[in-house]
Amino acid sequence: MSLDTLFRPFEYKSLRLKNRIVMAPMTRSFSPGGVPTPAVASYYRRRAPEAGLIISEGTVVDRPASSNDPAIPHFHGEQALAGWKHVIDDVHAAGGAMAPQIWHMGIVAPHASGWKPPTPMEGPSGFVLPGEAGGVAMSECDIADTITAFGRAAAETKRLGFDAVEIHGAHGYLIDQFFWAGVNKRQDRYGGATLPERSRFAIEVVRAVRSAVGEDFAVILRLSQWKQQDFAVKLARTPDEIAAWLNPFAEAGVDIFHCSQRRFWQPEFEGSDLNFAGWAKKLTGKPSITVGSVGLSGEFIAAFQGESSRPDPLDELIRRLTRGDFDLVAVGRAMLSDPHWVSKIREGRHEHLKDFTREALATLS
Ligand SMILES: Cc1cc2nc3c(=O)[nH]c(=O)nc-3n(C[C@H](O)[C@H](O)[C@H](O)COP(=O)(O)O)c2cc1C
Repeated sequence: MSLDTLFRPFEYKSLRLKNRIVMAPMTRSFSPGGVPTPAVASYYRRRAPEAGLIISEGTVVDRPASSNDPAIPHFHGEQALAGWKHVIDDVHAAGGAMAPQIWHMGIVAPHASGWKPPTPMEGPSGFVLPGEAGGVAMSECDIADTITAFGRAAAETKRLGFDAVEIHGAHGYLIDQFFWAGVNKRQDRYGGATLPERSRFAIEVVRAVRSAVGEDFAVILRLSQWKQQDFAVKLARTPDEIAAWLNPFAEAGVDIFHCSQRRFWQPEFEGSDLNFAGWAKKLTGKPSITVGSVGLSGEFIAAFQGESSRPDPLDELIRRLTRGDFDLVAVGRAMLSDPHWVSKIREGRHEHLKDFTREALATLS
């Protein structure tokens, strides 16, 4: 197996990446009051010489109930943005490139600490799960303000000097709640029987982001078929449905599709071994990022529940990357627990690769 394809540079608009490895966005909850600390900057700085691109943990846009956790970073407000400025300057000084992942959680289960945002959690129709109320339905005015907030966060991304921006449209959070018929029961233009109809909110977010950053700045959209609330959901059931879902995003200004799976090797549909990132690239012609258990034996939700993962070979990943299925490869837990994972892979120091255990989540090392 040759690792050459993994260590080729990648260039696209504002991105100049030294290799194809992306540090996946991972919430760490180490930013009290929403402000990233110097320890957060050091954590990213340590990974900057390794990953081609770092995508930050989800960082929330300026809506009163965009987060359920006071230690999740904000991407608005003077102090939080000053914290992010340190992060990107440190990452650049260490030879890295970085995109913040801008996020609104929508309606999710309350945080374990009991902390609550100042206003009720908000989503398309007030549901936390199909049929189960958990917050309020957003008015058209709330929707318009949220779209503006995403646009403002994107403008700040560019002003602070980041290399790209990622919109979090996956995993059952706000944008994905609009996609999901199970919790989007709206009768207005933000709802509808089809996935393209329920994509209107996300399309308007993408347009606001694109207009805030201009044509030359790379915009990444993270999507998933699965929801943290229900792994079995499939928004698009056929390649045609994927095309009908994604092509309007490409037209609205998405440059790169970040296709989240829990296990990257799982085919999206019967009759082809292409995964979600493979279909996204094939059907839109845009670059794509794959993710999900790269280099590890177990997947990440089980890891939250305490299941350990062992290092796993990269042969299947390299086969797909070399075939051109996708352009970039995001690595989550392996890079969370080991800042030197990329060097160890490149240098073949497999005996030094670490298991992933839940304990790694407790520190920002
Ligand atoms: C601690 C932790 C926090 C995460 N937080 C986010 C997040 O903020 N945004 C997001 O899109 N995905 C998040 N994820 C999912 C990861 O980006 C990634 O898709 C997942 O961990 C699978 O990659 P892996 O198997 O290499 O860990 C998180 C994962 C972990 C382990």
